[in-house]
Amino acid sequence: MTTAGARDLRVGVLASGSGSNLQALIDAGVQIVVLVCNVPGAKCLDRAKAAGIEAVVLDHHAFASREAYDLALLAELKKRQVQLVCLAGFMRLLTAKFLAEFTHAVINVHPSLLPAFPGIHSARQALAYGVKLTGCTVHFVDEGTDTGPIIAQAAVPVFDGDDEARLQARIQVEEHRLFPAVVAAYVQGRVTVQGRKVTTR
Ligand code: GRF
Repeated sequence: MTTAGARDLRVGVLASGSGSNLQALIDAGVQIVVLVCNVPGAKCLDRAKAAGIEAVVLDHHAFASREAYDLALLAELKKRQVQLVCLAGFMRLLTAKFLAEFTHAVINVHPSLLPAFPGIHSARQALAYGVKLTGCTVHFVDEGTDTGPIIAQAAVPVFDGDDEARLQARIQVEEHRLFPAVVAAYVQGRVTVQGRKVTTR
């Protein structure tokens, strides 16, 4: 499967927090039609509004189940004809039903070289393990936690005496470069997926 090849692909972003990766997408000129955030008051909402992007709050506390939440999420995205969903620090797993509507059209940025250190606190995990190299990964999203096919990775060295905040900050510099580059490649139809193998031209 090769991605759309349309420069005007409609991109939706899901985020839960600060939204520095959302900002990187905005700054790179990605045409974002909507931000959906599950945390009322999160900074990503301000970033979207400042950029003139429609910002929707969909608080997960208001829903009885993950399935119910994802149905509402799906409705918000479909309403705006979103074709590519970018997870920019969206701290929720997506259900099979949601993902079935967006085959090879949900991508995430994660702060480690997957499959090492999935889940939360990846920089902390990397420091605790003692690796000399970590980084970030942009990957397609499946039902697992950070388990989908890998699109691109960037390495970041771990220095003696690093603490979590310093390492995380250096990883984020790479995220802010890699994520928009992958989104641009996807939007331009340069990403091809076959099983777990992803090729970017
Ligand atoms: C990033 O480190 C990303 O890899 C992870 O969540 C964090 C979100 O940061 N999935 P921000 O909200 O984009 O600043």
